[in-house]
Amino acid sequence: MEIRKVGVLGCGLMGSGIAQVSATAGFDVVVLEVDQKFLDRGFAGIGRSLEKLAEKGALKEPAQKILARLQGTTRKDDLAGCDFIVEAIIENLEEKRKMFVSLDPVVKPAAILASNTSSISITEIMTATKRPERFVGLHFFNPVPLMKLVEVVRTIVTASDVYETAYEFGKKLGKVPVRTTDKSGFIVNRLLVPYLLDAIRAYEEGVGSITDIDAGMKLGCGYPMGPFTLLDFVGLDTTYYITNVMFDEFKEKRFASPSLLRRMVMAGWYGKKNGKGFYDWSNPEKPVPQDSALRGLAKE
Ligand code: 3HC
Repeated sequence: MEIRKVGVLGCGLMGSGIAQVSATAGFDVVVLEVDQKFLDRGFAGIGRSLEKLAEKGALKEPAQKILARLQGTTRKDDLAGCDFIVEAIIENLEEKRKMFVSLDPVVKPAAILASNTSSISITEIMTATKRPERFVGLHFFNPVPLMKLVEVVRTIVTASDVYETAYEFGKKLGKVPVRTTDKSGFIVNRLLVPYLLDAIRAYEEGVGSITDIDAGMKLGCGYPMGPFTLLDFVGLDTTYYITNVMFDEFKEKRFASPSLLRRMVMAGWYGKKNGKGFYDWSNPEKPVPQDSALRGLAKE
């Protein structure tokens, strides 16, 4: 099946990144949001990212040409002509199901539907549609324009040709696709989430300061970011949500949220996106570790 037009649901961090790489790969892209202001914000981010990539000579054509392939909309009917639709709205099962229930009659029967969820069961989302055999998971990584991987998730009812088309689509986007099955967290979060939660537990137990634990993993293991920088980057609210979904699936302690994470999220400390997490990001160039504020909940 040939894919010409891609639909992206949601223009947040992940949705805008997916739209950007799809347009860069030459596809016409329609991005759906609930409000024009979210489209404006997402498209501004795409513009900045393309500018950076152009400066580095990483684009095969002028950014303006790529941007011209992107169309933002708040009307679901505009997705009617799409061949492949990737959902990247809020990580909430009911919201995702509602979205697919309303889209099913609009989108053409041959279209492939995908979710970028990081932990919710693809099977539970797909049963909201009348075409579960045409549904896959397509899980990208943040920042989407730079991270090379995409996880392609198969359920027990995904049709083989649909799965292979999704796998090839991942390649066409310039990513390295890996095959995985519908188990919460797939490959990467299955391994990454317990590591991040363990970093928080180590901190709670007084193993080291935020900067020392970050430096330990960055310089001792060659990771591009330490665990607390990465947690702030991914979002503490997002991580908390993922841990709860994974704990619900596996009932294993390694997926349970440490109390510090829960309390930070309750207090509205979501990480870099709203300025405060394990670091204060008021000046993104110079994040300030929050050991003193977190001292009440973590040993020194
Ligand atoms: N588009 C274009 N360029 C971008 C960009 C974007 N979205 N984001 C950053 N860049 C550019 C920067 O401007 C910078 O450009 P410069 O060299 O001209 O200054 C360049 O990329 C390198 O960035 P930085 O100097 O800020 O820092 P790094 O060298 O550390 O690279 C990184 C950035 C690629 C994000 C690297 O730190 C990294 O790989 N971090 C780990 C990210 C990670 O683990 N992501 C997965 C998270 S888990 C996930 O997404 C799954 C979900 O389900 C939770």
